[in-house]
Amino acid sequence: MKTDRRSTVLTGSGLLLICAAISCSPYQSAQNPAGPQAGRIYSLWLFLLVVAVIVFVAVVGTALFAAWRANRKAETQPDRVSEGNLSRAVAAATAVTVMILFGFLIYSLTTGRALASLPAKSALTIQVTGHQWWWEVEYIDTVPSRRVVTANEIHIPVGVPVQIFGKSVDVIHSLWVPNLHGKKDLVPGHTTATWFQADTAGLYRAQCAEFCGHQHAKMALWVVAEPRDVYEKWYAGQLATPPPPVDSVAREGQRVFLSKSCAMCHNIGGTLAGSRVGPDLTHLASRHSIAAGTLPNTRGNLAAWILDAQSIKPGSRMPPNSLSPSDLNALLTYLETLK
Ligand code: CUA
Repeated sequence: MKTDRRSTVLTGSGLLLICAAISCSPYQSAQNPAGPQAGRIYSLWLFLLVVAVIVFVAVVGTALFAAWRANRKAETQPDRVSEGNLSRAVAAATAVTVMILFGFLIYSLTTGRALASLPAKSALTIQVTGHQWWWEVEYIDTVPSRRVVTANEIHIPVGVPVQIFGKSVDVIHSLWVPNLHGKKDLVPGHTTATWFQADTAGLYRAQCAEFCGHQHAKMALWVVAEPRDVYEKWYAGQLATPPPPVDSVAREGQRVFLSKSCAMCHNIGGTLAGSRVGPDLTHLASRHSIAAGTLPNTRGNLAAWILDAQSIKPGSRMPPNSLSPSDLNALLTYLETLK
């Protein structure tokens, strides 16, 4: 069993690595902006890069030219640069440096101001709460029954400004969706605010960008930007309570879920499990990954995670669960119905 589990985990991790190497990597890149904020940050970065390269070439070129010239002069007639010339050259170089730095400062401030201001009254408000080591995502609505709680995945409609309120329940985390915006800290006891907008539909990987303990690196989040109608369909699906399982194995799985330790930490809408210690599992099967972007959401990975999460993400709050093969099978079948 142990070997099976390990090979499942290895296969899952291998798939994830291949996926990251081949297709997913452009989806976590500040150089592939998909929204206005990331676009501005990218333009600022390009400007700084181009100016820095010009300055570098000018400085190194001048130094090499001076060395070459001094070498030639030393062979023929050593001379000294007049003090007046030297002072003028230093003053000119200082003036150019100050001008460049002021240019950088002004461009950075203008970009910062533009990033901080909301262009329109936000159509969508999402609260993101950092946990060690996962993300709780709540869609805020004035009507309580229209609120949606999910985890480790944010769906947003394309072209709509999204206001994000950030919180943390333990240590400082930092939400960073490089394709959409810069980083925003999630601080315990304090709500931070930021916003972003996706102009291109796609799957964007976000990463916690503030060291927050053992599993900081395995604290990722997927942002799914989709056309408005697809988003609305997803939202309606998330609002719905999953129907009670009809299949006998899935029914047995629900019994396992509610009678074992699962229900102590997780919530599943429409059942007695209502804890919010761990991620909300009401629509677990609709998500791309498990364990905050650590593994693709497959039956095998889910089995490995339930049995021994500590071998995948040591230090996480998810305890090992020794289930009989039939209980595990039933539980997996039930979880797969939570679309
Ligand atoms: Cu959370 Cu790093």
